[in-house]
Amino acid sequence: MLAAEIDTTLPKGALYRDLAASLESVLTGETDALANLANACALLAQALARINWCGFYLLRGEELVLGPFQGKPACVRIPVGKGVCGTAAARREPLVVPDVNAFPGHIACDAASRSEIVVPIIENGVLKGVLDVDSPEPARFDEMDRAGLEKFVAVLVPLVYWRSL
Ligand code: SME
Repeated sequence: MLAAEIDTTLPKGALYRDLAASLESVLTGETDALANLANACALLAQALARINWCGFYLLRGEELVLGPFQGKPACVRIPVGKGVCGTAAARREPLVVPDVNAFPGHIACDAASRSEIVVPIIENGVLKGVLDVDSPEPARFDEMDRAGLEKFVAVLVPLVYWRSL
């Protein structure tokens, strides 16, 4: 086992602290970017309750292209500026969407998704992609999830050799 099991019943603050620590412990020392993104996504899927999809879209030119994820097969290409992922990428800001059906241009990959959070991945001012998490529960994500996933991405960024992807 690479890291201690994360107790999914912890309060959000403690849960996201454990998640960031596990991420650092699992990824440190490994230089393969794809392997590290795959493990990052597996940690998220293990730690976060009431989600149906989590994963990465990586910036390729003007498009986001599907990367490592857990959940149902998803749409592969999302233009920057489209959908929740593309909007967060264009704004370079996290986006918490309590009701995806009320978000203009939302791209429905899994019909079960009701709410979503997207955090852009930026290294030295350069957009590398986004982290996307979906839930079948309306308004599943709050400001603590946003802060926790921003911290997760902040730990992730220096531990992935983005240019090799
Ligand atoms: N709903 C996203 C598309 C990606 S899937 O949820 C995995 C969007 O609107 O960008």
